[in-house]
Amino acid sequence: MRLIELNEYNDSYMQLAKPVYDSKRRVLLGIGTKIHPKYLAKLKQLGIKYLFIEDITSKGISLEDMMEMPTWLDILAIVENAFKAVAANQLIPLLDIRKSVKKLIEEVIKRNAVMLIPTTAVESSLTPFAHAVNVTIIALQTGKKLGYNNSQLNDLGIGCMLHDIGKATTIKQEDHPENGFNILRAYREISLMSAHIAYQHHETLDGQGFPRQLSGDQVLEFAQICSIANDFDNFVSAGLLPHVALEKIMSLSEKKYEYHIVLAFSKGIISYPPGTNVQLKIGSGIVTRIDSNPHRPIVRIHRLNKEIDLGEQPTLLIESILKEEDLKNIGQ
Ligand SMILES: [Fe+2]
Repeated sequence: MRLIELNEYNDSYMQLAKPVYDSKRRVLLGIGTKIHPKYLAKLKQLGIKYLFIEDITSKGISLEDMMEMPTWLDILAIVENAFKAVAANQLIPLLDIRKSVKKLIEEVIKRNAVMLIPTTAVESSLTPFAHAVNVTIIALQTGKKLGYNNSQLNDLGIGCMLHDIGKATTIKQEDHPENGFNILRAYREISLMSAHIAYQHHETLDGQGFPRQLSGDQVLEFAQICSIANDFDNFVSAGLLPHVALEKIMSLSEKKYEYHIVLAFSKGIISYPPGTNVQLKIGSGIVTRIDSNPHRPIVRIHRLNKEIDLGEQPTLLIESILKEEDLKNIGQ
């Protein structure tokens, strides 16, 4: 299985490896489907930009570093309910939120590093909620690498899942952090730390953020984690490849967030997810697995029909990422 951009789809040799869901999370296209070009245009209209497919090159590749899509979609629905509740002046379904955070903590504990389901693998009306779930996953993964205990992970997870909840009551970007803070701090079951994540997630170390232009150690570590996770998921959703998004986050160290947090974050993110087509000096190949080092994958080199562990080959570099059209040119 591998993840491709919608415009890379070719019905002559690819079939769906995971369903495509509609905005109500019902299966729109099932596993094994070959997508007719007319239908492809419809998916594009719905804002779906990525597909999970199976073809000859991706056979045998499993995406176990990624959460199961139905679980991810269930949690996404809970975030959606929370936003709807706040918009309708009703109570946030806190029990569901707690359960979801607990589930995500379990997901993060069992993996060394994480591969995200793109927020644009679902219809665009669901993207904000998918984003909240992804931010929570990345933040929890970072918190784990920083050695957080369960109660810290819970506070971090709840704050991150609801970091943009202020958007349910305002369309003004500059107002949403404070709105979110006021919404969350009204619940005695939500820790003040979680509420401050919503308040501070757009603040930066250099004082250039908003809404209060906090700087330096005024910006809480929990909020910095949320800020990194927020940026990373936004970069990837905008089309940056994970390793490029990671570099971009690195380059913002000490401007937006402290280096030690960025370092912890980087240890939990997979640079080249399984299924990525790569060019190395010794030939082209496909990432088949991630072992112990999330940035040095195991690559099957087509020409040699052999797997090479880049973790054991420090001098072998991934020179570029190959797109579908590049593969055709080199006869793969
Ligand atoms: Fe935000």
